Amino acid sequence: MKSRSKCRKPTSLRCNAGSRYSTSVVIFCLLGCLFLLNLYSYTHYKDRNGGESQLRLSRHPQFRELQEVEEENIQIPPPRGKRSPRAAKRRPKKKTTLIDEFLDENSQLRHVFFPGHKRAIDPLQTSANESYYYYPGRIWLDTDGNPIQAHGGGILYDKNSRTYYWYGEYKDGPTYQVHNKGAARVDIIGVGCYSSKDLWTWTHEGIVLAAEETNETHDLHKSNVLERPKVIYNERTGKYVMWMHIDDANYTKAAVGVAISDRPDGPYDYLGSQRPHGCESRDMTVFKDDDGVAYLIYSSEDNSELHIGPLTVDYLNVTSVMRRILVGQHREAPALFKHQGTYYMITSGCTGWAPNEALAHAAESILGPWETIGNPCIGGNKVFRLTTFFAQSTFVLPLPGFPGSFIFMADRWNPADLRESRYVWLPLIVAGPVDQPLEYSFEFPLWSRVSIYWHRKWRLPHGWNGFI
Ligand code: DGJ
Repeated sequence: MKSRSKCRKPTSLRCNAGSRYSTSVVIFCLLGCLFLLNLYSYTHYKDRNGGESQLRLSRHPQFRELQEVEEENIQIPPPRGKRSPRAAKRRPKKKTTLIDEFLDENSQLRHVFFPGHKRAIDPLQTSANESYYYYPGRIWLDTDGNPIQAHGGGILYDKNSRTYYWYGEYKDGPTYQVHNKGAARVDIIGVGCYSSKDLWTWTHEGIVLAAEETNETHDLHKSNVLERPKVIYNERTGKYVMWMHIDDANYTKAAVGVAISDRPDGPYDYLGSQRPHGCESRDMTVFKDDDGVAYLIYSSEDNSELHIGPLTVDYLNVTSVMRRILVGQHREAPALFKHQGTYYMITSGCTGWAPNEALAHAAESILGPWETIGNPCIGGNKVFRLTTFFAQSTFVLPLPGFPGSFIFMADRWNPADLRESRYVWLPLIVAGPVDQPLEYSFEFPLWSRVSIYWHRKWRLPHGWNGFI
C-alpha cells in the first residue's frame, strides 16, 4: 500500500506534468501556426497592395509632395463685445469651437472657410505659375468666368470624346427654409454639366436636366429635391444614364430617379423615380465595375444603413439583388472606387449640411461584407480631420496612369447660402497598412490604407496627361 501510494504520487505528478507539457506543445503549435499565417497574409498583403503602389507613388517626386502633411493653425477670434462681469457669472459663455465658427454666417473666420471673394482663381486671368493648381474651398470659375455649379456631383470620363464631364446640382438660387425646423434648401434648377480635357479648366455645357416649372406633381417640380446626380455610360445601349436622389422638400419621398441621353452633354430625358427594392433611398451614388456591371448604393432605413445592388444590363433599373451594408452605422454621401481588385468607399456621418468625420470602408466583394477602416483624412489640424476638411464626400475619381492615386471630391456646404458652397478636391492615395484591426477576423486585411491629404494648394503631377 505504502509503496503503491508512494508510487502513485510521482506517477500522478508525472502524468500531470506530461499532460501539461503536451497542452503547452499544442498551444505553442497553434500560436506558431497563427503567427505564420498572419506573417504570410501580412507579407502577401503588403506585396499585393501597399508595397507596390507605395513604391510607384513614392518614386514620383510630385506624389511625394502630395503625401507631405500640411498643418493648419487657425486661431479662434476672441468673443466680440464685452459682457458685464455679472452676466458672465450668471451664464458663463460656452466655448466657441471651429465648427461653431464655420456654421456662424457672421464669423470673423468666414474668409478662412469660404475664401475667394476678392482673389478668386480665374482660369482666364491666372498667371502661368498659378495655373493647374487646385485651391480647396476657394471659388472656382468656369471658362465664362462664372462660379461652377455642380454640387453633390460626380465625373464621367467619356472615352468617345476623350473628355471629362462633371455633373452636379445647379444651386444658383436663393436659400430658404420651408418651415422653421426644415433643412435649408434651394429650389430645383437642374443638373449642371461642365466639360474639361485637363480636369482643371471647365466649360459650362448648360443645365442638362432642368426643373419642371409648372406641373406640381412632377418629381422635378422646383419645390422638390434633386441631389447627387451621377452619370454612367452603357456600352451595350450607347446611352448615358443619370441616377439621382429625388425627394420632396421634407425628405419623406426618399426615392431615386433615372434620366437618359444619347450624348454626355445632354439633354437628358427623365424616365421617373422609384423606391429601389421597395426601400427608402436618400444619399446615393452609382459605380460601374470593370466588367461593365453597374451598382446603385444608397442610404436607407432612416439613413441607418447603406444598400447596394446591381443594376439591370441597360442600367435603367435595379435588379432583385440587394445587400444591406454598414448596418446601424448611420452613413451617407457614399463615394465608391476600386484599386487592385479591392473595393473602397468613403462615407460621411448624417448631420444635414454640417460637416462631420469621414470614414473609409473596404471590401473584397462589392456586395460585402464591408469593413470600416478608419478616418482617411491627414493634415490640416484635428478639427479639419474630424470634419473632412469642413466638407462632405461626393465622388472619388481615379487618376489614369497612376495606380493607387485618386482625386477625392467633396462639397463644403454653405447652409446660409447654398449656391456659395465650395468644392474641396484633394489627393487620395491607397497605400500602406491600415491603422485599424479587422472587426471579424484575426488575419491582416487584404486592403491598404486610404489617405486623403490636406493641401491649401496642389496640382496633379506633370506626367499626368489628362486622359487615357
Ligand atoms: C446631407 C446630404 O448628404 C446632402 O446631400 C443633403 O441631402 C443634406 N443632407 C440636406 O440636409
